[in-house]
Amino acid sequence: GHNNLNAKLVLLGDMGAGKSSLVLRFVKGQFLEFQESTIGAAFFSQTLAANDVTVKFEIWDTAGQERYHSLAPMYYRGAAAAIIVYDISNTDSFGRAKKWVQELQKQGNPNMVMALAGNKADLEDRRKVTAEEARVYAEENGLFFMETSAKTALNVNDIFHEIAKKLPRA
Ligand code: GTP
Ligand code: MG
Repeated sequence: GHNNLNAKLVLLGDMGAGKSSLVLRFVKGQFLEFQESTIGAAFFSQTLAANDVTVKFEIWDTAGQERYHSLAPMYYRGAAAAIIVYDISNTDSFGRAKKWVQELQKQGNPNMVMALAGNKADLEDRRKVTAEEARVYAEENGLFFMETSAKTALNVNDIFHEIAKKLPRA
C-alpha cells in the first residue's frame, strides 16, 4: 500500500558548510552566492514522493555558529532524520561533522536515519577532504554518505530521496 509520512528532519554542521543552501535548493530550487548566516534556526517543509511513500519533511535548518550549539537538542530531539553537512574544502568542518555524529549517537533518537553530506562538491580544485575518507567514516558510523553541491544541485534531491526510502514505514 501507499504510505504518507511526516518526518522531522534536522540539518547540523559547521557554520558556512551550506545547510541553508541545501535546503533552499531542495525547497525552492534556488541558490544564493551570498546566503546569510542562520540565526537560531529556520523552518521549512517540503513533500517528496519516493516509491511507495509520500514524505512530508518538516525541516529544521539549524545555525552552525558555536553560540547556538545549546539550542541544537531542541531540533534533533524526536527527529526521524538528520543531515550532517560539511564543506569538502574545509577540514575543520569535517571534524565538526564528526562531533555532531557523536552527539547524535549519544543523545539522538536511536532509529534516526543519518546522512553525511560533503557539500560544495563543485569546489574540486579546493578540495581538502577526500570522498574516500568520508565514505569510510560514514560506513564505520552507520551513516550514508553523498557529496552534494547546493550550487550545481548535484545530489541534493537524491539525498532527501535516499532518506525518504530509508525511513521506517508507519
Ligand atoms: P550557518 O547558517 O552559518 O550555519 O551556515 P550554513 O551551513 O547555512 O551555510 P550557507 O548555506 O549559509 O552557505 C555559506 C556560504 O557557502 C554561502 O555563501 C553559500 O553561497 C556558499 N555555498 C553553500 N553551498 C555551496 C555549494 O554547494 N557550493 C559553493 N561553491 N558554495 C556554496
Ligand atoms: Mg544557515
